[in-house]
Amino acid sequence: MSTAEKATTSKSLTARLQVEDKSVDLPVVVGTENEKAIDISDLRKRTGYITLDEGFVNTGSTTSAITFLNGEQGILRYRGYPIEQLCEYCDFVETSYLLIYGKLPNRHELERFRESIRHHTMIHEDMRAFYNGFPRDAHPMAILSSVVGALSTFYQDSLDPHDKEQREISIHRLLAKLPTIAAYSYKKSIGQPLMYPRNELSYCENFLHMMFAVPTQDYEPNPVLVEALNLLLICHADHEQNCSTSTVRIVGSSNANLFASISAGICALWGPLHGGANEACVRMLQQIVADGGNVKKYVDKAKDKKDNFRLMGFGHRVYKNYDPRALIIKKACDKVLSQLNLNDPLFEVAQQLEQVALQDEYFIERKLYPNVDFYSGIIYRAMGLPTNMFTVMFAIGRLPGWIAHWVEMHESPTTRIGRPRQIYVGPTKRDVIPIDQRD
Ligand code: CMC
Repeated sequence: MSTAEKATTSKSLTARLQVEDKSVDLPVVVGTENEKAIDISDLRKRTGYITLDEGFVNTGSTTSAITFLNGEQGILRYRGYPIEQLCEYCDFVETSYLLIYGKLPNRHELERFRESIRHHTMIHEDMRAFYNGFPRDAHPMAILSSVVGALSTFYQDSLDPHDKEQREISIHRLLAKLPTIAAYSYKKSIGQPLMYPRNELSYCENFLHMMFAVPTQDYEPNPVLVEALNLLLICHADHEQNCSTSTVRIVGSSNANLFASISAGICALWGPLHGGANEACVRMLQQIVADGGNVKKYVDKAKDKKDNFRLMGFGHRVYKNYDPRALIIKKACDKVLSQLNLNDPLFEVAQQLEQVALQDEYFIERKLYPNVDFYSGIIYRAMGLPTNMFTVMFAIGRLPGWIAHWVEMHESPTTRIGRPRQIYVGPTKRDVIPIDQRD
């Protein structure tokens, strides 16, 4: 069922807007969780006005049946299922199926899905040569977006977003290949041979194998890390209309192919205000530790309006309460460190920072809490991942969410190309003075 069919226009509610001497009644749309929106799609036609909302703080770009989140209450559900339950009972591949196909798979469906993804894990041999063209110190997010974009040059027979079969094969290929593409970027950066995937391993085991195995000796993925990786990927798997997902949707709305749309999403995720925050957060914690662990000094810096320093991994556009993902990840962090018998000073400092910030008037007033990126990096460090791979991990996790939104958009009969309007504030009409007459 398309999302458009699920949105209800209220029979009892309308919004009345008075503009100059005109009064217009605007329809109210109500979602399944009773969220309400004023439908302004024909406002300009009726009044000559548009709405202005920089950063889309208050603008719904679509209806969607994928993820529900309530930032005031700290609720996150994929397709109706609470994130806490998905982390407890499902693995990442199962969660991906749920997001993309809208239902939890039965055993048979899940096995077929896993099988198909296993089947596509290798990348074309010619693609391996790409890795020699990047500088050794290239950021892996740059490699990830380039190589994902380049998939469209290898699979030209399946790029039509309106063809269901072509869409399906592209989705399976991308889910299967993204970990391979990511792990190769790491192997290249440290000068080790690229490790082929091993299809008898699970999704997360296989990723750890491609990252950390070498051809000269056996490698056994640690089950503690496999479990933690599944959990982190599930926590990242979708978050409704965030910056990168909106990017995927807007690029996809021009009918660009899946690989091009996801490549754009990866670029959007890279920024430190979005997925890049996990990398930035660990660098910040390292700096605090190196600086003697003076947590208060950094909280004060974050509050100082003359200083552009922000507490990374803190604050969220939608959550005005503890991010439920941060709660899950903090617990997992504690568990992983104690199971591996590791004592990471960054975890200590992170907990102190959280404590100080949460008791500080500045953070209380603005409802700033730890977000998903605050503790995730500490688990990635325990896995042995280098800091510049953290955002890549976020991308692997977010992939099924991006795909689900891209598919939902293409299945909705109401989708139109994404094309916001603007209020022009530049010079009014003026005439060109030929170059020889200009001052
Ligand atoms: N440290 C200090 N002050 C902050 C922070 C922070 N981390 N976050 C927000 N503020 C202040 C901000 O200065 C502003 O204060 P004032 O009202 O005095 O001007 C107020 O809180 C509201 O902030 P905003 O920037 O208007 O809020 P936003 O919704 O536009 O931005 C955010 C949300 C996530 C970009 C922002 O909180 C931030 O920069 N956080 C740090 C980066 C980060 O952790 N990003 C990851 C977000 S979660 C995962 C993801 O999306 O990828």
